[in-house]
Amino acid sequence: MPDPFKSKLPDTGTTIFTVMSAMAREYGAINLSQGFPNFDVDQDLKDLVLEYVDSGFNQYAPLAGVPELLKVLSEKIAGLYGVRISAEDEITITAGATQAIFTAIAAVVHPGDEVILFDPSYDSYAPSVRAFGGVPVPIALHPPGFRIDWDEVMKAITRRTRMIIINSPHNPAGKVFRDEDIAALKGIADAHPLFLLSDEVYEHLVFDGLPHLSMLKYPELYARSFVVFSFGKTLHATGWKLGYCVAPPALTDEFRKIHQFNVFCVNRPIQHAIAAYFENPETYLSISAFYQEKRDHFARMMKESRFRMIPAEGSYFMLADYSEVSQKDDMAFTRELVREHGVATIPLTPFYAKPPSGQRIIRFCFAKTNNLLEEAAGILSHI
Ligand SMILES: Cc1ncc(COP(=O)(O)O)c(C=O)c1O
Repeated sequence: MPDPFKSKLPDTGTTIFTVMSAMAREYGAINLSQGFPNFDVDQDLKDLVLEYVDSGFNQYAPLAGVPELLKVLSEKIAGLYGVRISAEDEITITAGATQAIFTAIAAVVHPGDEVILFDPSYDSYAPSVRAFGGVPVPIALHPPGFRIDWDEVMKAITRRTRMIIINSPHNPAGKVFRDEDIAALKGIADAHPLFLLSDEVYEHLVFDGLPHLSMLKYPELYARSFVVFSFGKTLHATGWKLGYCVAPPALTDEFRKIHQFNVFCVNRPIQHAIAAYFENPETYLSISAFYQEKRDHFARMMKESRFRMIPAEGSYFMLADYSEVSQKDDMAFTRELVREHGVATIPLTPFYAKPPSGQRIIRFCFAKTNNLLEEAAGILSHI
């Protein structure tokens, strides 16, 4: 009889996002915790989905994705980043970015391989590495800048380093890569035979005119990269769980070997609908301005509070230091906020393998209607 308790992920419990959303429901709180919008998908896109369901596009899609969507994405990438990506050989549609991340790791990480990642980090990275016998090597980023110290990265690289996971715009810190980050990555790529997994799910949420420095733009970096995107973030449709992975043909081959036995293919009618919707680039080009307005609105209202907001350059998250409000640790403080004030947020320490002591920071998601943001800011300003 196999030991049923020999867990592959013994330290992994319920994610903090699930915990806080459940608490938000229990206390009827305003939910600024989990990263999803409280407004609906564009009616035109919903109509397109219904149209494709009605016209019978309801059976398996091709493994890599429907050709119409792959073509639109390749054109979108050419328009945004000035590079030619093969629709057939370099793009795979996945069940959200999470499956793309998991599949990329499954494709190249062997037992004992080390994978460098930056804490605070999205919670799927480290468990996915561990699930395939890899060893996560977390490097901590520090407030308020949360910038990567590339000298520290150089020191952390060993002969076993197989991959570095990067994420710009960054969840939860809201920071974006600058030219110096790209220069450092190029130096590392020159010196070490490792892969990059670039999580770019917030590519269309970059503010203040800053460019999104995608790995797709730099041939020497792209040559070793899996670049991951999410339709959920771009289309306000996180519940559809659709995303894609862009990688050079040889890496895409390896990616698809895993993908075909993991899901084989993903939701077909919605793929067709997105292909038709993206024919108009405004559908994605307008997203940055839309969210920048929300970021500014929320930040302006929070000026009335004792929370010290940490400026977000991208993503739909904003961090705040609450040291002037409470001396409790962030787990206790976020629970108190839900129970006693009816606002759900996310503590920062669960994003770290080794939580820094004395840090009093929480995360707000501002992908919410303006009246909900106003209501939340009203409450938070009186604490
Ligand atoms: C940084 C980051 N990567 C990946 C994902 C997952 O995206 P998806 O919902 O498409 O799986 C999220 C979702 O919150 C995220 O914030």
